[in-house]
Amino acid sequence: MDKKTASTQKIILTGDRPTGPLHLGHYIGSLKNRVKLQNECQQFIIIADMQALTDHAENPELVQKNVLQLGLDYLAVGLDPKVSTIFIQSLVPEIFELMMYYLNLVTVARLERNPTVKDEMKQKGFGKRVPAGFLVYPISQAADITAFKANLVPVGADQVPVIEQVNEVVRAFNRIYKTDALVEAQALVSDVPRLSGLEGKAKMSKSLENCIYLSDSTDDVKKKVFEMHTDPGHIHAKDPGKTEGNVVFEYLDAFGTDKKKITELKGQYEQGGLGDVIVKNYLVEVLEELLMPIREKRREAAKDPTQVMKMLKQGTGRAREAAAQTLKDVREAMGLIY
Ligand code: TRP
Repeated sequence: MDKKTASTQKIILTGDRPTGPLHLGHYIGSLKNRVKLQNECQQFIIIADMQALTDHAENPELVQKNVLQLGLDYLAVGLDPKVSTIFIQSLVPEIFELMMYYLNLVTVARLERNPTVKDEMKQKGFGKRVPAGFLVYPISQAADITAFKANLVPVGADQVPVIEQVNEVVRAFNRIYKTDALVEAQALVSDVPRLSGLEGKAKMSKSLENCIYLSDSTDDVKKKVFEMHTDPGHIHAKDPGKTEGNVVFEYLDAFGTDKKKITELKGQYEQGGLGDVIVKNYLVEVLEELLMPIREKRREAAKDPTQVMKMLKQGTGRAREAAAQTLKDVREAMGLIY
């Protein structure tokens, strides 16, 4: 963490809403990268429980329950709480104070124009009845990011407009209060294509029930792989089949390490003479190799939930220290010193 000088230090802020278990799409899209980056950068990982409430206000139990589950998923994939600062958003009041100052720097019209928010509002069917907290979630995200002076934010391409809005807030703040207290963040857009769901029609997503979860048992994984869609034209093993747009091969490409074997299987499948069952059994093997150690670590950590919560609270303590420093700079810049 102190290996690098202040000017080149990369500070990452990333995280998830605790609304459900993490799945293979999360793994390939972000978790794998976080495990790698934790040793290269200073990394803050936010369990965004307050943000989760912006569209789950009637169901706080769901959010509460999933904070521990998310903590377990993080530990299971190999995030090290000694190296990465994993913390609970609602236990960092500094974030909400920052958010209140920022809300005055953005118009309702601008919030309504944010393409990410617009899309999500349509998906959720909110219309004019959008919760105010949901409409302003990019500003809550601005507070999350700037509280830690993070300069790198790994996101999916769909979140880029949110980061643009975050930076607008940063620039407005620094200009109006004649300061450099806030730091602009760069969106680090993943070049890994989003993983398809089991049915192959949409992306893997909890609401579509088309996921393999990191916490799934071996039996779940087998069952789900055997439900996967392949090439509907590939009826008999001897028929030539398509590997393009075939979910089983998409997953093999994403998770398989033996690239040579996968290329051979593809060749055979396209030529004809390779049945779905063989390919699916191989995919089960590949996924089990990935998931077995994850499941094992999760089970080990789950034996002592109190310890996991303690770890999250320790992370939160470190996060609060960093956020308090930013808040001090912010209040100074605004002249709010009493
Ligand atoms: N919006 C992210 C999600 O839905 C979670 C999140 C909250 C986040 N604050 C953030 C991500 C700041 C990156 C930066 O999963």
